[in-house]
Amino acid sequence: MKFSARKVEDASKASSACAVLPLFKGEALKGQAKALDKACGGAISASIELGDFKGKTGEGHTLLGCGKLKRVLLIGCGEKKSFDRAAARDFAKGLYTALNHLDAKDALLLIGEIPVTDADEAWLLDMLARDLTSRAYRYTETVSKPRPPMALNKLVVAGTMSKAAAEKALATGAATGEGINVARHLADLPGNYCTPTHLAAQARMLGRSHKQVKVQILDEKKMRELGMGSLLSVTAGTDEPAKLIVMEYNGGKKSDKPYVLVGKGITFDSGGISLKPGAKMDEMKYDMGGAASVFGTMTAVTQMNLPLNVVAVVAAAENMPSGRATKPGDVVTSMAGKTIEVLNTDAEGRLVLCDALTYVERYKPAAVIDIATLTGACVIALGAHATGLYANQDELAEQLLAAGTESHDRAWRMPLWDDYTRQLKSNFADLANIGGPGGGSVTAACFLSEFTKAYDWAHLDIAGSAWSGAPKGATGRPVSLLTRYLQDRAG
Ligand code: BES
Ligand code: MN
Ligand code: ZN
Repeated sequence: MKFSARKVEDASKASSACAVLPLFKGEALKGQAKALDKACGGAISASIELGDFKGKTGEGHTLLGCGKLKRVLLIGCGEKKSFDRAAARDFAKGLYTALNHLDAKDALLLIGEIPVTDADEAWLLDMLARDLTSRAYRYTETVSKPRPPMALNKLVVAGTMSKAAAEKALATGAATGEGINVARHLADLPGNYCTPTHLAAQARMLGRSHKQVKVQILDEKKMRELGMGSLLSVTAGTDEPAKLIVMEYNGGKKSDKPYVLVGKGITFDSGGISLKPGAKMDEMKYDMGGAASVFGTMTAVTQMNLPLNVVAVVAAAENMPSGRATKPGDVVTSMAGKTIEVLNTDAEGRLVLCDALTYVERYKPAAVIDIATLTGACVIALGAHATGLYANQDELAEQLLAAGTESHDRAWRMPLWDDYTRQLKSNFADLANIGGPGGGSVTAACFLSEFTKAYDWAHLDIAGSAWSGAPKGATGRPVSLLTRYLQDRAG
């Protein structure tokens, strides 16, 4: 979808397939609304008087034919005094629903006179562009008759900001939305399509399309040379080759320390020899949701040309049982030199991540954030609404929480206490890969924290937030949070 901004003196003289008029509940028509009402013979005020349009937040009502405007779409904004960010999001949802029903190819949104109580117009435009872009996502890859795309492909916004400022806000929102869609697409792809090799090819494509992005793919041979025995133990049972994918975006000065993103990219998690039960096992194609969000965030960051350096690393592998698979009780040696007793081959995410987290030490990062569908326990603890956040540094935690609040892609901080780390003691290795029945999301994070002492680090457990079960589909989280975080770092 293309977004642009323009000034509109008199909407009734503008031409568009659809003029969108936001209206507060119970407010007298004024300005553009009054002019439009007059131009369409009082149809707007009549709709309100008859009660056909009540102005509830997100409510849509279409009127036909008004000069060069083929349609006028009224969208309710509720009470003016309670039009806050949450109401604005409901407005956006209603706007999408109404526009998706119409066959209009372009629309003119008269946003000028709806102030958000706790945000400015730039926030509103950014949110609208992001929301409309991501709602327009369709999964098409492996279905013969996919849901048709939205007819609308051009939205012109008439607000009170300058054209340049409005278009900047729209462009950043659209870039974030496109990043979300990249993540959703990769995550929704079936495991037989989205293999580690496919993810590597995606990275190469990103590298080809942006000259500031350098891509490097480490194969199993290279990983063996580096001593990544933990990561390689996960891929031992599958025929799909594992890949460590490295994408370096250089938007900042050479001397700027990079922000490093590390994504869990298990393209299918059967559990391995500690095989998962059959119910919903198909959803384990989403076990590369962390990797998908890394690709999505890189898409947004490169599109915005953010003036900072970002290194994205994806640990991509498939977790399968076979005669060569790692067995419970096996001891493996990580790149950091720590030995790990694999008590459960289904706790594989931490095994691939620990080696990737050691690998990124070489970048002397400003901060490292890993993103992983790490534990079922996180789904029990927080459900779908909050991503689990862990950090070894308070300021980093605060910054990520703030980015989540700002972008409505929220996280909630969890503890990394030694009391939990003690659950990982092993008689046969430096660490066990599971910590008993209690606090599973925390012990998984504590396992990772043993490998991240060299830098400021945060871990996002997105097991509950990365996809939804009904209707089944990827959410694209936490692309918004990560993108916002990086935008904030870029100043
Ligand atoms: N990918 C799963 C975590 C998961 C499960 C995410 C369900 C979303 C929904 C992870 O690899 C895993 O299997 N974790 C185990 C850990 C356990 C063996 C300590 C789990 O959560 O059951
Ligand atoms: Mn698992
Ligand atoms: Zn997993």
